[in-house]
Amino acid sequence: MSTNYQDIKISGEQAEDICLDLYGLAGAAVPLPGELDFNFKIKVKRKHYLLKVSRPGANPEYLGFQQDILQHVLESDRKIISPVPLPDLQGKFISEIRDASGNIRKVRLLSWIKGRLWSGVNPVSNNLLFSLGEEAGKLTAALKGFKHPLARRGFEWDVARAEWTGEYEHLFNGEKLEILQYFREQFSSLQKPYGKLRKGVVHNDANDNNVVVTDDLKDPRVRAIIDYGDAIHTQIINDLAITIAYAVMGFPDPLSAAFHVVKGYHSQFPLQEKEVALLHVLVAMRLAISVTKSAINRQKEPDNEYLLISDTPAWELLKIWRAISNDFAHCTFRFACGFSAHPLEKEFKEWATKHPTSLMSLFPSLAKEGIHPLDLSVSESWIGDREEAEDLDLFQYKIQRLQKSVPYDIIAGGYMEPRALYGTTAYERTGNSGKESRTVHLGIDFWVDAGTPVHAIFDGEIVTAVNDAGNKEYGGLIILKHLEDGLVFYTLYGHQSIESIKRWKAGDQIKKGQLLSRIGKPPENGNWAPHLHFQIMLSLFNFADDFPGVTYPGETELWRSICPDPNLLFQQPGLYNLPIRDPSETLAYRKEHLGKSLSLSYEEPLKMVRGDGTYLIDYLGRRFLDTVNNVAHVGHEHPRVVRAGQQQMAVLNTNTRYLHDNINTFARELLGTFPEELSVVHLVNSGSEANELALRMAQTCTGQKDMIAMEVGYHGNTTGCVSISSYKFDGKGGSGAPEHTHVVPLPDQFRGIHRGADSGPLYAAHVQEQIDQIHALERKPAAFICESIISCGGQIELPEKFLELAYASVRSAGGLCIADEVQVGCGRMGQAFWGFQLHGVIPDIVTIGKPVGNGHPLAAVVCTREVADAFANGMEYFNTFGGNPVSCAIGTEVLRVIRDEQLQANALKTGNYLKTELKKIQKEFPLMGDVRGQGLFLGIELTSRKLIPQADKATYLAKRMKDLGILMSIDGPDENVMKIKPPLVFSRSHADLLLESLQRVFREDYMQL
Ligand SMILES: Cc1ncc(COP(=O)(O)O)c(C=O)c1O
Repeated sequence: MSTNYQDIKISGEQAEDICLDLYGLAGAAVPLPGELDFNFKIKVKRKHYLLKVSRPGANPEYLGFQQDILQHVLESDRKIISPVPLPDLQGKFISEIRDASGNIRKVRLLSWIKGRLWSGVNPVSNNLLFSLGEEAGKLTAALKGFKHPLARRGFEWDVARAEWTGEYEHLFNGEKLEILQYFREQFSSLQKPYGKLRKGVVHNDANDNNVVVTDDLKDPRVRAIIDYGDAIHTQIINDLAITIAYAVMGFPDPLSAAFHVVKGYHSQFPLQEKEVALLHVLVAMRLAISVTKSAINRQKEPDNEYLLISDTPAWELLKIWRAISNDFAHCTFRFACGFSAHPLEKEFKEWATKHPTSLMSLFPSLAKEGIHPLDLSVSESWIGDREEAEDLDLFQYKIQRLQKSVPYDIIAGGYMEPRALYGTTAYERTGNSGKESRTVHLGIDFWVDAGTPVHAIFDGEIVTAVNDAGNKEYGGLIILKHLEDGLVFYTLYGHQSIESIKRWKAGDQIKKGQLLSRIGKPPENGNWAPHLHFQIMLSLFNFADDFPGVTYPGETELWRSICPDPNLLFQQPGLYNLPIRDPSETLAYRKEHLGKSLSLSYEEPLKMVRGDGTYLIDYLGRRFLDTVNNVAHVGHEHPRVVRAGQQQMAVLNTNTRYLHDNINTFARELLGTFPEELSVVHLVNSGSEANELALRMAQTCTGQKDMIAMEVGYHGNTTGCVSISSYKFDGKGGSGAPEHTHVVPLPDQFRGIHRGADSGPLYAAHVQEQIDQIHALERKPAAFICESIISCGGQIELPEKFLELAYASVRSAGGLCIADEVQVGCGRMGQAFWGFQLHGVIPDIVTIGKPVGNGHPLAAVVCTREVADAFANGMEYFNTFGGNPVSCAIGTEVLRVIRDEQLQANALKTGNYLKTELKKIQKEFPLMGDVRGQGLFLGIELTSRKLIPQADKATYLAKRMKDLGILMSIDGPDENVMKIKPPLVFSRSHADLLLESLQRVFREDYMQL
């Protein structure tokens, strides 16, 4: 009897013959992975089956055991989807064949479970991880009470027996050997509690080829866990460990991924605290079995690829798993189950409440009575912008001023406060959803003078006294270990003077009341304004010299348990947590009291509270790369622009009825960016107001009412603007073009009625067509209004000659030409400051909005002298706010920043780079039908190969990009164009991050055509 792999291998053709002979099913066989059996998917018309052919010499009792277990699960009330054993033509559930080498082979047929294998699913979302946990938990519950003699067989894949791997450690060396030995020794040392855990028959092999996922590509769930061939009687928790081991491979943060699996499992099969305590090491032991098996089998059966496939990801996971502290993993898993994350949290809280400690015992030299809370949360303006927050002199000055106003209080606060202060990469990591930053503060900061003595509030032992040097680190750091009434906990003192901590070394004993350290000053304290960072920890994990003082927003509640509120000790009124207003509260009020026609981006709206360059920052301090806001033209909250507004606001704000140099300066600098023909400016407050005024100007100058406008064009929200905005009157809630508006087709070279680069004259002919129709009504056109790239139309670049020919037609009919530069102007195009300049034309009127105020409501209408003079027909044009000195100061500064920071050149350089790279990746992703635009005003149109718009995929992409921390917007008549129009400070590294994230999402299942 041969057991050589090649000899015992069953081919697809053989499988098809077996199926026909035994079951009368004529179908096509597709081989599937399998460790022991040879498995095939059999397709018979629309029905599918699973055919399993055993290896020679397979134990019939063992096969019977598998059939029994399937039957048991099918009969359970847990609503589990599981393969159903099917009989052969003779009614037998286990049949026999003789293979080519004369071996007897056992054959079984099972119903097919519809779906896809976990191994092929991308992305694996938290919901999917949770549902895997749920299914695994349900299965554990369903298997309760199942008994079979073979379930108690000795089995190398049984985690309980994992110590056998120790005998094969000679197959490894270096880091791999260290990892295996570390976990095996841990496992051995835990045998006593482990031996006492609940036991039962478990599936024992929820690997990524045994988990079937629904076909829903947007929000898939686990349908079933299949293949009971490895089921075994063992510690129940092993099954969860195995499920985790396979599910979290490939994640940069596998512990966070595992959290969701545990949560799902616990929801169906409640775990015990003592089980959860061992989960971390058990996951590792399953991986140890897997890599050891691979190493052994690689020697035995070098041809069997299946034996090798999980090796590399398993090692990658083991390496990351090794670096995770067992105690921290324990807390995470406890938290997933709804237990207090730290096992001692409750005990500590009870003890601390019974043993209050005066805050003055921490600072006995300070004669203070109370606390003045200082709020440094993300939205707080006290701290100023990033530059101001990092200006230590300024920060210190503000603290001192505040201190003067509250002489008897200590300025303090910050426990669990999300802050935007931690801008260095040291606070950043790549999590499972892109970059994330530690922003939530775990201790209390006491803002007291440098040199202030800090005293021990309990007896303790020094565990850390180091210089944690570096910008925004702790500087002088002390950690004390305390033992009070049998309870161990730690206190941390950060930002101390180096001189004062030098006298301590680990192991030194400290007495309550003893001088511990003195407050440091920058730079020795990590370069902060002087303060004490005081924190309590219930475990040190594996942080010796750099225990985190801030954590990731997603881990806030976990760490709240590990680092309890220090004010539990002080019980000091005023040292409270300032509540962070949750977005749901904000949303509820908005829904109730703000107009319903105001839309919100994203199904789960974002709550942004701070801006910084190309980033928007939410209330928890999460930074989102912003590719949407062309309004924040020179960067969100550009310090120069902010200051220009603040300074003028502090002095005067009036209107244009008084002379003011700011008005002239802004007018002069703005007009300086235009060709000399455009020499008169009117200042207004919004793009809509600018276009409204342009409309009035055109109609007054020509004495006509008829306007020619672009299909899907948008020019503003006023009645007049909506009447020339096809985007609105042809869109939802609209009732078509008003009588005096004439719409020309969108000159879309990619999918429009004329296609290709030379379609400009064809589209321009439609302008003439509309003029002819106006003439046929015995009227004349007042004006033609058009953007230089049609933004709401989906970033449609005007084809060559279109504008030139259209302008010529309009002018020869006596009409004016209006260029709407509200979106595209101020250098965004890269090659030119204004979009119309790309087309070699000079409009009669130009409207400017969004970018020129960088977020401040400022807009303008620039026109020729003839137009301006004709408009001034005696009726005064007064605008209460338009052209006020504050707005003008801001507008001037925006123009100067564009010039000083060479942002137009950046738009050209970075925009060209981004467009070129997008065109490169377009080859890999046919869904990217078209990539177009100029400078930093780009669009990606999502279409099928036959150019059918893919709006759902655009929505999915925008949502997933948001998950990854990147904001993108969608537009176009078919809502299938991704718009890229970031602040002009968008750099090459931002472009790279955008490209990387786009590719990640384009690879996901839902994005495939
Ligand atoms: C091209 C164009 N024109 C005018 C406007 C109106 O500007 P505002 O919203 O400032 O009134 C917009 C606004 O999105 C626009 O995109």
